[in-house]
Amino acid sequence: MSLTKIVTAHAVAGLLATALSYPALAADAAAGMQKAQVCVACHGAEGISSNPTVPSLAGQPAQFIATQLLMFREGKRKDAQMSPFAANLTNTDLNNLAAYFTTQKLTPPTTGVDATATQAGARLSQQYNCVQCHGPALLGQQHIPRLAGQQRDYLKTQLRGFKASTRFDMDGQMTSAAQPLSEADIDMLANYFSGMR
Ligand code: HEC
Ligand code: HEC
Repeated sequence: MSLTKIVTAHAVAGLLATALSYPALAADAAAGMQKAQVCVACHGAEGISSNPTVPSLAGQPAQFIATQLLMFREGKRKDAQMSPFAANLTNTDLNNLAAYFTTQKLTPPTTGVDATATQAGARLSQQYNCVQCHGPALLGQQHIPRLAGQQRDYLKTQLRGFKASTRFDMDGQMTSAAQPLSEADIDMLANYFSGMR
């Protein structure tokens, strides 16, 4: 790890510690639902996206949602569409939005999932240890996202981004995990995840 990377990781950890002290902060899901009215235009009603390039938020771990919003707000993770919507959120907003979206039930996208590719994807997710961090059912935990039922094209873009080091990654673990993946692997994994309930 380079020195800049270490310093960045520490700065981010510091930010996280001050902004998000789980589970000490009592989050208000009802207030989050109010605040989410602007989000659903892109992320879909209840955070279930029907746009292949926009991620679903329903059923993501609360800590993951709040952390990513913080990263967008602080300009660590950047996206032309998303960043403006995080810019003015307070720490309370981040937690309330997270509390709202985490309790929504995700309906996975109805893309034509290929059975052969699905088997291959399941095998790869074991072989490359995706399940070690994202959980045996790929439902995510703490700051690690749920992959099951996520939009396929979105997953592919993110995996390519981690591999190329263009997607911001707090501790570099995901960037390392993406290095051995070929384009065919990415395709099979994304197909597998998006078809999972
Ligand atoms: C104009 C469309 C748009 C709006 C409105 C919008 N987002 Fe997003 N959001 C996106 C896109 C596109 C991405 C994926 C960015 C990328 O590719 O890195 C994203 C990513 C995210 C992520 C990261 C999810 C993940 O799986 O990594 C979170 C969390 C998020 N948005 C929350 C919100 C919240 C909360 C709001 C409302 C306050 C909101 N978004 C409003 C388009 C939007
Ligand atoms: C050592 C733990 C670890 C392993 C192993 C791991 N991941 Fe991750 N993954 C993470 C973390 C942490 C994040 C969130 C990174 C961030 O935004 O800072 C993440 C993010 C992702 C995302 C972005 C999803 C979103 O909604 O934005 C995808 C896709 C992903 N991982 C797929 C995989 C796949 C496929 C594998 C196996 C090849 C894998 N991960 C292995 C920890 C891991």
